[in-house]
Amino acid sequence: MSVRRLATTQPDSFAFNADSEAEVAFWMNKYPPERKASAVIPLLWLAQKQEGWVSEPAMREIAARCAMPYIRVYEVATFYTMFNLEPVGVHLIQVCGTTPCWLRGADGLKAVCEKRIGKKGRGHLSADGKFSWEEVECLGACSNAPMVQIANSEGDYYYEDLTPQALEAILDDLAAGKRVEPGPVTRRHCSEPTNAKVGVLEDASLFDGSRAGRFELPNRARPQEPLAEERKSRPASGAAGTGGEAAIAPKKARKTAADGAAAAEAEAEKPAPRKPAAKTPAAKKPAAKKPAAKKDE
Ligand code: FES
Repeated sequence: MSVRRLATTQPDSFAFNADSEAEVAFWMNKYPPERKASAVIPLLWLAQKQEGWVSEPAMREIAARCAMPYIRVYEVATFYTMFNLEPVGVHLIQVCGTTPCWLRGADGLKAVCEKRIGKKGRGHLSADGKFSWEEVECLGACSNAPMVQIANSEGDYYYEDLTPQALEAILDDLAAGKRVEPGPVTRRHCSEPTNAKVGVLEDASLFDGSRAGRFELPNRARPQEPLAEERKSRPASGAAGTGGEAAIAPKKARKTAADGAAAAEAEAEKPAPRKPAAKTPAAKKPAAKKPAAKKDE
């Protein structure tokens, strides 16, 4: 992590201009009064887009707008590397030097910047004051490597598929005050393979199943058929291990014997069928005793 300090030379004051004020009002209205501090990053960004960098007076102004201590604004501004803490050129060239861009020629782009602008770093401006440059880590456009991001009052735009010659042409146009169209300089549509036919998946046969019949399963996947073929060509009495019916037969016999033994064992373990219990005749109910006849006295 780089050490980020405020520039040693600071302006006396800072004020948002009319265009910025309209944007500031939008962001301040977005949050409830007790949550004004939520607008700190958008306001820092607006100050940077207006001045090219974030000065110490700008941080104090933003602290007052967001009703938060100045030190909190300072912490945010010094934490995020997207904020320039010192003046930069009108155009800040950020050259990606991470592996994919490096493999595709980022060193050549850095050489152009050194030749045209001078020393690397946000605090170093070109002789005309229009450019400064720095090396940054991956900007997420690796499939269009090598690339640079150019930050100016219009925004932050990517220029991709660059060569040293293409970057020189871009710098020439910017120096002449021309607008340069961002994107791949090779006029690739996006990040598709170079010279690829866009819309290649429009071929209906990719989806209608008509291609399925073209693919036969290899014989290895169907063991029964090659086995039958081999049997015809094998000698009838082959030694074990050399193939043929004889080699197969003992295995079959062993299998049958083992099966028979297992079947007999299973049969023996079966419980004997239970004989139905003999029906015992229902016990005769004792005859109801007749009440003894009363003796005549
Ligand atoms: S490595 Fe350069 S954009 Fe990812």
